[in-house]
Amino acid sequence: MTHLAVDPPVACASPAALRALIESRRAVRRFTDEKVPDAVIRDCLEMAVLAPNSCNLQPWSFQVIRDPALLKQLHLVCMSQNAALAPLIIAVLARPDTWKQACQNIVTYWPEPQVPQRISRFYAKTAPFQYNQGPLGLLGLFKRQLVRLLALRKPLMRTPNSKAQMRLWAVKSTALAAENLMLAFQSHGYATCPMEGFDEVRLRKVLDIPRQALPIMLLAVGRQGEKGIYNPRLRFPLEQHVTWL
Ligand SMILES: Cc1cc2nc3c(=O)[nH]c(=O)nc-3n(C[C@H](O)[C@H](O)[C@H](O)COP(=O)(O)O)c2cc1C
Repeated sequence: MTHLAVDPPVACASPAALRALIESRRAVRRFTDEKVPDAVIRDCLEMAVLAPNSCNLQPWSFQVIRDPALLKQLHLVCMSQNAALAPLIIAVLARPDTWKQACQNIVTYWPEPQVPQRISRFYAKTAPFQYNQGPLGLLGLFKRQLVRLLALRKPLMRTPNSKAQMRLWAVKSTALAAENLMLAFQSHGYATCPMEGFDEVRLRKVLDIPRQALPIMLLAVGRQGEKGIYNPRLRFPLEQHVTWL
């Protein structure tokens, strides 16, 4: 995976090619038994983590489940829904708890010999202040009051200043990675179905998910099976969702 910036940005896919890829992705609920090669999974995960993410703290993790016995358990955890019979399931986890390590990682993995001072300063001071909510979220409570006062004078970013806001913070970036992941599989000819239809308590037990991690969706992946798509595509008219100012 390259870490180098492309400057100036290049349009590597034509709008038509990107549209075709996006349009071809559907939620597929029936898969064949064909396994997804590890090399494909890896390639797709590499594309997933190229998603934009808040402060580049990459607050996500992924569990790749290929083991047939585990997959069988997951099918039950997913209330026996068809999509969960896929030969591969990826648990997409938002990680509001990894920001501290991530601040160190930025310096460790900086892709140039010298970490610019503004970068090391930001991840040593600003980011920890922004994301640390303290024990029981008490520091967050203090920050909320402080921001309320300071924002009387100038515009300020007011979140995340609580444990709940940290969860939302992590979910936003992770959802973008999940979409990248789906499109990446699509580009390799594999279908996907994102699933939130699962029993979270049982899921946590089966996959031994860290307490603070949030399973935002399980991604079923495989070759599309017969009658894998249940319904024609349906989206509401754009005008219902868009305001032009
Ligand atoms: C967060 C999320 C959770 C979903 N959960 C399920 C699920 O548990 N089971 C399922 O069959 N489809 C699930 N879907 C798929 C949606 O039903 C599907 O994306 C939607 O109907 C639009 O269809 P399309 O993706 O084919 O355009 C989920 C989608 C998202 C984004």
